[in-house]
Amino acid sequence: MSRALATTTPHSHVSPLPAALDPARLPTHVAVIMDGNGRWARQRGLPRVMGHRAGVESLKRTLRLCSDWGIGALTAYAFSTENWNRPGEEVSFLMALFEKVLVRELEGLEREQVRIRFLGDLEPLPEGLRQRIAEATERTAGNSGIHFNVCTNYGGRNELVRAARQLAQRVAAGTLDPEAIDEASFAAELHTAGEADPDLLIRTSGEQRLSNFLLWQLAYAELHITDVLWPDFDQEALLHALLDYQGRQRRFGGVAPAA
Ligand code: IPE
Ligand code: IPE
Ligand code: MG
Repeated sequence: MSRALATTTPHSHVSPLPAALDPARLPTHVAVIMDGNGRWARQRGLPRVMGHRAGVESLKRTLRLCSDWGIGALTAYAFSTENWNRPGEEVSFLMALFEKVLVRELEGLEREQVRIRFLGDLEPLPEGLRQRIAEATERTAGNSGIHFNVCTNYGGRNELVRAARQLAQRVAAGTLDPEAIDEASFAAELHTAGEADPDLLIRTSGEQRLSNFLLWQLAYAELHITDVLWPDFDQEALLHALLDYQGRQRRFGGVAPAA
């Protein structure tokens, strides 16, 4: 996908796949919990929000590298259903930042054939942001490049409850037989419908928890936790995560193939 992308719609510097990586064994879908912005800022004596600003640059860099290296989908955790618990000023800053970045980056995303989607309960988001989200989603829907999913007011439990409610409503309406509910029909009600499950989950800043991220979809993801703070997550850190992934043996409950 990205090879074709690279030849038809190049950006100024397409990064070649590092020789250490096996192009045949890249993850199709990478998910990332972008954590540590606040600590990055504190280390520099800056307000937390400056960490979020730096985090945007890190996300842009990561998206571009994933696209250049031929990864099919990148799903990033930008704002959780629990993040409303932060001070009002920080929440407002983040919402304004999302909107500003979306306005600024949309043209580039279109040019680079990125298909962007926002996963989560978008209704409580500020109206202006929702409009930008609708516009970006629509304008990039037909793009042939990397699938870029931004989890915004996303919570795994919220998503699962919503899916259950939607199926229950169809049962109540008499249009769905409860016996017909299986893993595929359940997954089809999730925000990630149509996307393969992530193969690799990266969490930065050393925290060893899921924080309510993609609870269903991460069932068999390989986990890579790095102490690197999100704004410092660079090409080397991504390479490190992908090498770690390529060193894993994925058994999916089976047994290792005989040597
Ligand atoms: C992640 O960085 C960004 C968001 C959750 C929006 P944090 O803001 O959680 O940074 P730390 O964990 O406080 O360092
Ligand atoms: C997870 O980070 C959410 C995002 C990265 C958007 P948090 O910083 O909110 O997670 P906790 O509070 O440490 O679990
Ligand atoms: Mg955090």
